[in-house]
Amino acid sequence: MAKINVLMVCLGNICRSPLAEGILKHKAPSGEVFVDSAGTSNYHIGELPDQRSVATARKYGIDITDQRGRQFKTSDFDAFDLIYAMDQSNYQHLVAMAPDEASRQKVHLILDEVYPGERMDVPDPYYGGDMGFDNVFKMLDQACDRILEKIL
Ligand code: 4NP
Repeated sequence: MAKINVLMVCLGNICRSPLAEGILKHKAPSGEVFVDSAGTSNYHIGELPDQRSVATARKYGIDITDQRGRQFKTSDFDAFDLIYAMDQSNYQHLVAMAPDEASRQKVHLILDEVYPGERMDVPDPYYGGDMGFDNVFKMLDQACDRILEKIL
């Protein structure tokens, strides 16, 4: 079976999408899924994930300190099979960048995997407290279970 390439996308690529990347990598059987993440903005290129995301992942036994922020680029539409946006703003940004219909079809809202058609956002925890990160982790954990059920 061909390896499936999954890209997680948020705004900064330091809070939500690094958690989503770490969780999906942790759950996926080795060798069957390639997972990466990116931000729609250029705000945090080259940076480690936010220390609150690092701490939250660590609490659940996942190390995300190998990750560094990068910006989404148009060639990601060729490199990835599934592109998951964390919220509707990221989703609109990605759809607007898609060069063709096939690329546009790769873009999904990640919580649509858990709540189909409800168009729910993963809330941006950047300006909040640690509880927000735990809440985000739990949402993404559920979503990653559904993603693996779908693709494996
Ligand atoms: P993320 O959170 O999109 O989940 O990585 C944010 C990180 C940084 C900023 C906004 C959201 N920022 O404005 O710098």
